[in-house]
Amino acid sequence: MTETIRVETRGRVGWITLDRPEALNALNAQIMREIVEAATAFDADTGIGAIVLTGSAKAFAAGADIKEMESKTGTDWLVDDPFGLWPRFAAVRTPVIAAVSGYALGGGCELAMMCDLIVAADSARFGQPEVNLGVIPGIGGTQRLVRAVGFYKAADMVLTGRLIGAEEAERAGLVSRVVPADDLLDEVAAIADGIAAKSLPSLYAAKAALDAALETSLAEGLRFERHAFAAQFDTHDQKEGMAAFREKRDPDFRHR
Ligand code: CAA
Repeated sequence: MTETIRVETRGRVGWITLDRPEALNALNAQIMREIVEAATAFDADTGIGAIVLTGSAKAFAAGADIKEMESKTGTDWLVDDPFGLWPRFAAVRTPVIAAVSGYALGGGCELAMMCDLIVAADSARFGQPEVNLGVIPGIGGTQRLVRAVGFYKAADMVLTGRLIGAEEAERAGLVSRVVPADDLLDEVAAIADGIAAKSLPSLYAAKAALDAALETSLAEGLRFERHAFAAQFDTHDQKEGMAAFREKRDPDFRHR
């Protein structure tokens, strides 16, 4: 039973909805744990081919929970490592789509950046406002943002703390697509259903290869891709997908 998120399975898509409206979905210890547990449970289920993470119309997430963090010491962070669970979320093999409406600030923007696609409502606002609080991003904001939008745009956001709208975020490369706010969940459902219908082994491999592009040299990444590509040819779904193309019919994937 979860208290700060809602979890639902629709077909082959796992939906996680952040549900702390009183704090604009600020990330306290409980919601962080529940998000990571829900995502890893979906990831362990081969009946799930895509995960959607979303919040409310007003806030995807307004950041790490400032009230919970305020009294912590440096030693608390080092010893208890409250953000140490996020690598488990980032390591989920299943494609994850962030459906962002309203505020995605601080840890909220960082959470979106741990997802594979970011689909934003035209109302969405992104920012890394930690400098306003006397701290810096702590869940990857300085690292993933640079990789997403380049150094100068990231520095603009991290050093000034200013918020950017969905259009600017899309221009900068932080957002995959912008859609009208009223259509966000329908558009994301269609994208997620489409992804989840693909062969699961190819989704796992494609996500791993994309991640390699962010983490390795070009030569290493290309080597990884070549091996991952080769491995696909031992799946049922590669034979089925190519036969279906030749026979001009839809593939019947077994996700094996
Ligand atoms: N942590 C804890 N509580 C938060 C919160 C946060 N990050 N963001 C909002 N809330 C709470 C508010 O305190 C308020 O609660 P009360 O009614 O009990 O006072 C409630 O949510 C509603 O918020 P507001 O009244 O402030 O709503 P608003 O519409 O006037 O403003 C906002 C919205 C601009 C997003 C504003 O809430 C805000 O600036 N929030 C903080 C944003 C921020 O600084 N995020 C970064 C946090 S640090 C971080 O994330 C570090 C990291 O890298 C991990």
